[in-house]
Amino acid sequence: MTQSGLFDAPRYNSLDEVLSAIRGLKDDPLANAGTNIVISRGNPKARLLLVGEAPGPQENIKGKPFVGPAGQLLDKILQAAEFDPENDIYITNSVFRMPPGDDGKAFRKPNDKEIEFYRPFVFEIIRLIDPLVILLTGNVACQSILQKTGITSLRGNWIDLNGRWLMPIFHPSYLLRNQSREPGSPKSLMWDDIREVRRKYDELLADK
Ligand code: URA
Repeated sequence: MTQSGLFDAPRYNSLDEVLSAIRGLKDDPLANAGTNIVISRGNPKARLLLVGEAPGPQENIKGKPFVGPAGQLLDKILQAAEFDPENDIYITNSVFRMPPGDDGKAFRKPNDKEIEFYRPFVFEIIRLIDPLVILLTGNVACQSILQKTGITSLRGNWIDLNGRWLMPIFHPSYLLRNQSREPGSPKSLMWDDIREVRRKYDELLADK
């Protein structure tokens, strides 16, 4: 299905309806994984929406996305650009259960089948929140929403997604593994990107 096809075919009348449909999923590819459904946090009236990858171990326990180390860094990045993580943003993921890891690892990256299964629900969340600006963190979110990957070249560029302003940015977990602040480092590029997001967000709000 095309991106606009996904937006053109409303399946739910309200955010509550889609959230309860996701909570009730029994036939999803991770239903037998033994991990919990984790959908979203933040303000449903926010004009900024962020799509992540999948819950990790902390998120699986607490039932909210981005509450572990990557989430703490994400909140700091948002706050550095004067976004309030409680009020100014709605945060969700591409996959709504933690994919259990193999080889003794707690979790793994979601696979194509899992990303595809949850994709229509992610699009419904976007449609019903109706944000002005969407951030995609990392390759899994790009695969879910844009159906393409390559975060190093996608990041920092605005994309028109059916009239919405969308920007891919690095995943905060990647920044946790790359601590350098040198010019051109992932951390310094993230700072450039979030400042540009702030500028565009202010411009779009001023036009409203
Ligand atoms: N990483 C994500 O992409 N999402 C989460 O909820 C937690 C970590």
